[in-house]
Order: sequence, then C-alpha cells, then structure tokens
Amino acid sequence: MNAPLSNWMDVAAEADLFDGAGIAVSPEGHDIALFKLEDGVYAIDNVCSHGNAKLCDGFVEGHQVECPFHQALFDLRDGSVQCGPATEPVKSWPVKIENGRVYLAL
Ligand code: FES
Repeated sequence: MNAPLSNWMDVAAEADLFDGAGIAVSPEGHDIALFKLEDGVYAIDNVCSHGNAKLCDGFVEGHQVECPFHQALFDLRDGSVQCGPATEPVKSWPVKIENGRVYLAL
C-alpha cells in the first residue's frame, strides 16, 4: 500500500508549460523535468539514466521523450525505458494541477 502523498510542492505555473515540450524545475534540489501533453502534465527525473543529458531538452512524441544525447526513449507516464541504449528507468513523480499551479509530490 502506498503512503499518502502529503508534501505537495508548488513548482511551476501551468502557463509556463508548452504543449509537447519539457521544462526543468528543481524543488528541494531534485532535478525534474515537467512535460505537458494533451492529456495532462507528467514529471520525470531530468537527467537521463544513461548519461548526463537533460531530458527536458529532448524531443517529445506521443507519451515518450527522446534523450538528446543517444536517443534513448523514456515513457513520460512512468519513466520506463522504451528504447535503448539506456537500460535503467528514470524516476517519475506524481503531479497535480490546482488553480493554475503545478504541484509535485516529493
Ligand atoms: Fe541519454 Fe545516452 S545520455 S541515451
């Protein structure tokens, strides 16, 4: 059973997000990329699990982001690897939107 998510942190304005693109936020020292898709906002760790690339700069297609260094594909919904060379997932973070603000459960 999951523990209740209580420490929601305001990390961005929804208006700062652009469809199909990522932005970086760094609440409490975490490096996290937010992505706005047609069906919602998703958050995953910003640094690729394969190297020191920023996934917020990656190309977004559907529910996947392509690492800008070696083109590994990660699913934005759960951080899983869809295509190598990365083999490890990146962490995904719960997101909620309230009153035009984006919150992450840290
Ligand atoms: Fe991301 Fe290599 S650094 S695939």
